[in-house]
Amino acid sequence: RQNERESLYIVLNFAKNYFQKQLTETEEGQSIALSYLKERGFNETIRTKFELGYSPEAWDALTQEALTKGYNADLLEKAGLMIRREGNSTGGYDRFRGRVIFPIHNVAGKVIAFGARILKTDPNAKGHQPKYVNSPETDVYHKSDVLYGIYQAKNTIRQLDVCYLVEGYTDVVSLHQAGVENVVASSGTSLTVEQIRLIGRFTPNVTILYDGDPAGIKAALRGLDLVLEEGLNVSVVTFPNGEDPDSYVQRVGAEEFKKYIQSSARDFISFKAETLLEDAGDDPFRRAAVITDVVGSIVKIPDPIKRQIFFRRTAERLGVDEQTLISEGNKTIRKEQ
Ligand code: UTP
Ligand code: MN
Ligand code: MN
Ligand code: MN
Ligand code: MN
Repeated sequence: RQNERESLYIVLNFAKNYFQKQLTETEEGQSIALSYLKERGFNETIRTKFELGYSPEAWDALTQEALTKGYNADLLEKAGLMIRREGNSTGGYDRFRGRVIFPIHNVAGKVIAFGARILKTDPNAKGHQPKYVNSPETDVYHKSDVLYGIYQAKNTIRQLDVCYLVEGYTDVVSLHQAGVENVVASSGTSLTVEQIRLIGRFTPNVTILYDGDPAGIKAALRGLDLVLEEGLNVSVVTFPNGEDPDSYVQRVGAEEFKKYIQSSARDFISFKAETLLEDAGDDPFRRAAVITDVVGSIVKIPDPIKRQIFFRRTAERLGVDEQTLISEGNKTIRKEQ
């Protein structure tokens, strides 16, 4: 079992090196992918730091190279690198083709998976091409346990005592290039308890920097209760509609970006209350429902002192009696028991 995992790490590292070489040392990689990364503003230092690469367009470029080097097809398949052709026990094709490669590292720095971005949408391509193709679950990659960038960010997270949580690979890379190094990505999915506990190993403070689109805001609202339950302190920053941390920092620069975070971070409870109240408008029934919803979040906070502070603050904000909120909270707790 241990040996099998070791073999996976080795072949994944081999693949990572192969993809890196393809990006910088081949005509195809340079003309298609390196130019794309340059256009997006990623410099050589950051490409090296995150070990970015390129998977050629050929059907089985990596597979052939790996087989030649003595890795067997079984291992390539178990690593999520090769997809077996149906009814063919020996051959297969590469999972990642014609894409920019983002290696995903575990906390110790070992490559455990890849995210792979399409370069351009080919109008003649048959069928839907997803923007990102990711490694499947393997013996060394459990998606729900992993945060992209944790290896590169962990020391700074501990030092600054706050972790920025973004949605995407490119947000992490861009922010590092701008000198913001305490950042990890949930990779577009809702947060899991394992991911929150991983952050908790380095700091109790999380600032969520999700995309400024309705999906990003919904995701922030969804992920939040779980983070509160784990006892972490959560703030939220939203970006102007259509922007994400990558596009924003590339547009305004590092200094402006830091100022923006400082001035627009709101604690999660206020964020939730304000966002939901905006939607509810003047309708008293909908406003009452919002209050119940927000109280439902407050009671998730394990620390009674913090909980009390949020009851008071929310009561002021919403213009309702604090005791009413607290007894509403007690009702919620009783219902759940
Ligand atoms: P986004 O659509 O916001 O992409 O998805 P992005 O990170 O900003 O990428 P660019 O700037 O367009 O290149 C956020 C994250 O959701 C996951 C990826 O982890 C992505 O970084 N995702 C998105 C997928 O896994 N598959 C997809 O098809 C799309
Ligand atoms: Mn697991
Ligand atoms: Mn998005
Ligand atoms: Mn995005
Ligand atoms: Mn983006």
